Amino acid sequence: MKIGIINGPNLNLLGLREPTIYGQEGFETILKALEARYPTHTFVYFQSNIEGELINAVQDMALRQGCAGILLNAGGYTHTSVALHDAIKAVSVPVLEIHLSQVAAREEFRHTSLMGVACRGTISGFGKDSYRLGVEAVVSSL
Ligand code: DQA
Repeated sequence: MKIGIINGPNLNLLGLREPTIYGQEGFETILKALEARYPTHTFVYFQSNIEGELINAVQDMALRQGCAGILLNAGGYTHTSVALHDAIKAVSVPVLEIHLSQVAAREEFRHTSLMGVACRGTISGFGKDSYRLGVEAVVSSL
């Protein structure tokens, strides 16, 4: 199964960025661990700090790359992006909203997700395991 993973703004700084909230590992390490754990699945990974590039990646993974599911951690755009919401609605591939931190327990502005209602489900608060749980959800329920 081909599974897409899209990380949004500032997630290129994982490991350096507020490590008490987001952990000490960079995403390369997290991705390698996923690849080792799920050797029969293929992961397509994309990260950008630019909203439109995230939208292009949703469309590309869903319509051209044939991903069975997409794990999307849109970072701060989670809370602001109508355009990402629309992109998720535009494709039939299920998209899961992923967060390392438990956004519901943080600042109030993080309690709103404009993408969430367009997503198949949300996994939030399990650190790097949020991605692994996302893979489990894609593999077992889709
Ligand atoms: C995040 C939570 C967002 O609120 C924040 O803007 C991020 C990371 C998370 O993974 O916990 O950049 O998506």
